[in-house]
Amino acid sequence: MNPRWDHLLLDCTLATLAGESGYGMVEHGALGWRNGVITFAGPMRDLEDAPDALAGQVESVHGALVTPGLVDCHTHLVFAGDRADEFEHRLQGESYQTIARAGGGILSTVRATRAASEQELLAQSAPRARALLREGVTTIEIKSGYGLDLDTELKMLRVARRIGSELGVTVRTTLLGLHALPPESRDRREEYVAQVCDEWLPRVAGEKLADAVDAFCEGIAFAPEEVRRCFRRARELGLPVKLHADQLSDLGGAALSASFAGLSADHLECTGAAGVEAMARAGTVAVLLPGSFYALRETRLPPVDALREHGVPMAVATDLNPGTSPLRSLRLAINMACTLFRLTPEEALRGTTVNAARALGLGDRGALAPGRRADVAVWDARKPAELAYWIGDSPASRVFTGGIARG
Ligand code: NIG
Ligand code: FE
Repeated sequence: MNPRWDHLLLDCTLATLAGESGYGMVEHGALGWRNGVITFAGPMRDLEDAPDALAGQVESVHGALVTPGLVDCHTHLVFAGDRADEFEHRLQGESYQTIARAGGGILSTVRATRAASEQELLAQSAPRARALLREGVTTIEIKSGYGLDLDTELKMLRVARRIGSELGVTVRTTLLGLHALPPESRDRREEYVAQVCDEWLPRVAGEKLADAVDAFCEGIAFAPEEVRRCFRRARELGLPVKLHADQLSDLGGAALSASFAGLSADHLECTGAAGVEAMARAGTVAVLLPGSFYALRETRLPPVDALREHGVPMAVATDLNPGTSPLRSLRLAINMACTLFRLTPEEALRGTTVNAARALGLGDRGALAPGRRADVAVWDARKPAELAYWIGDSPASRVFTGGIARG
């Protein structure tokens, strides 16, 4: 008889994240899948047959913690060069905004990214993705935004897609054309915004190179009205939106994203009550980015209590980028979300699984339940709180992406 399932893990300490709250713990659990889709997640005693009769490959994980594969729902990991010199300047007292206004910051990464060939860009970026994968990440969002001209933006998005196919990880790409005003457009702001909306968006949508559209709504970047123009165009093209919102000042970014039924509003350190309420009504996910809060030595905390009170789903991501968050560890982001933002370890795990998937519009993953994708991480740990507790050196012991074991 042919076994019904491809793979069956036994003696798991499952944190399924399958319910509306709680870890969804199952002690002495089993997890089975077939064709990359979970077929069983529950107590071993509920298996209807002998394991060998149920699946082609059967293995015990000897009580190890098993969670959904982690989802890093906000990264800028495709870029060339680094900004270690800027880090030194900031330590000497220069602010992120001053450096940006003087043509450094994002624009210095733009220069390096434009100059890199597609192959070089891939060679520099793939190791950053690999670092995330070692820690149990099975889905990564990657933004463009260091090209700021069409060719380089397309090059970044292609590199992001290649990381997905070459590393065997799901990559969701996001066009971030309104990230900074490129130097050649300094006196032609309106023209640049028009170009992004009327040329780049249709092109990127036509080539299916982006799954979503993002913008940086900030005094040093783009105004709410410019973002709205871009989001209206995205909506016409059927692309969902998300927004870098209220990071350094409150320009009403959270409410703006919500008004377009945004998948997420991200950062949110300066978001007020109206923004939180708008997000709750729209079901927009709050993506918290403790890496940039930490690296910029911010002191204003995102409104976690209000988000919680209003039932806004919270996600946690690395924001991996060369300027404000050179953080190549989602596990460390989980720890920081707890220590700096006072999330519970359960909220932080939910924020890097089921809620992070939701911030990408992916309802097919982020929990261990029949019908969901078999994206699975096995940990050298017994309790889910350990994922938030240990700091450093925390690779996953086994990872399955769409049911396939990662080497
Ligand atoms: O998410 N805020 C805008 N974008 C990035 C920073 C990019 C950079 O400084 O290179 C962020 O923090
Ligand atoms: Fe970001």
